[in-house]
Order: sequence, then C-alpha cells, then structure tokens
Amino acid sequence: MNAKLTWIKPRRPHWLPAALLAAGLAAAAGTARAGDTTAARQLERFSAQAGTPGQAERGRIFFTSRHGGEWSCASCHGNPPASAGKHAGTGKSIAALAPAINPQAFTDTTKVDKWFRRNCKDVVQRECTATEKADVLAYLLNLMR
Ligand code: HEC
Repeated sequence: MNAKLTWIKPRRPHWLPAALLAAGLAAAAGTARAGDTTAARQLERFSAQAGTPGQAERGRIFFTSRHGGEWSCASCHGNPPASAGKHAGTGKSIAALAPAINPQAFTDTTKVDKWFRRNCKDVVQRECTATEKADVLAYLLNLMR
C-alpha cells in the first residue's frame, strides 16, 4: 500500500485540467442561456473586449447617425430609445432598448449578439466593433425615463 502511494504521489493529477475544462465549458454554455445576464454585464463584456470603457456621448452619436445608409439605429428604436420603437420597415412595435424602461433589455447574451450583428449590418454595412457596442450600452444605460 505504502509503496503504491509513494509511486502515485509525485505524479500530476491528470484529471485536473479535464475537470477545469469541463467547468469552463459549463460556464460558457451558461452564458448562452436566456435571461442569463444584465445590461451592466454586457457593458463590462464589450468594454473588456474593446480594452476601453464605453462612452455614452460617443454611443449617442453612433446610435442617432446614419452611417451612409438609409437608417440609423434610432430609425427603429426611437430617439431617444427610451420608449417602444417602431420598425422602420414593417411598422412593428419594438420594446424599448433602454434598460431603465425595459428591464428585459440586454438580459440574454444570445439575443444581444444576434441583434447587434444583424442591425449593425443593416445600418453600418458591417458588424459593430466592441468599442461601438460598449459605447451604445453606456449610452443606453445612462438613459432615464
Ligand atoms: C430596421 C429596424 C432596426 C434598426 C435600424 C436597428 N434595430 Fe436593433 N432591433 C430591431 C428589432 C426588431 C429588434 C428585436 C426586438 C425584440 O425582439 O425585442 C432589435 C433588437 C436590438 C438589440 C437586442 C436588444 C436586447 O434586448 O438584447 C440590440 C442590441 C439592438 N437592436 C441594437 C441596435 C443597434 C446598435 C442598431 C444600430 C446599429 C440597431 N439596433 C438598429 C430592429 C432594428
């Protein structure tokens, strides 16, 4: 018994990296579930990706500008986006983007990523950068009723 233990002891625990990886994967999967996050955490996420904090005033300008196309973000989400918006194409109602008014806004990571991708392509003809997303979040989180 003793001899066996001394043989095992100096060896690396092979299960450890696998266990850490499994925990990491579970955590990553968790962030993709509905209602898994907050608007403040999304601001932190994009600021971290950008390597700089989001700036509300820059976000306001980005959100209300047409970037050479037909629509700005405000065309559908309103200016300011503190009440329900109206889709510029279909006229369908869109829940307010400002988290102070709509507590559901930015609480689902998958939804946030999906709509940023889609709407940025519509408005700026490319995906938004992390800096632009952080700026938009900072702007929206600053909006009061
Ligand atoms: C053509 C209309 C339209 C335009 C223009 C538009 N959006 Fe949207 N956006 C929508 C719709 C519709 C939804 C989905 C609303 C819902 O299901 O609650 C949405 C949802 C979103 C969401 C998800 C919100 C959440 O709760 O997770 C984000 C983020 C967003 N838009 C950002 C933008 C940004 C940034 C721009 C400008 C680059 C923009 N949108 C321009 C129509 C538009």
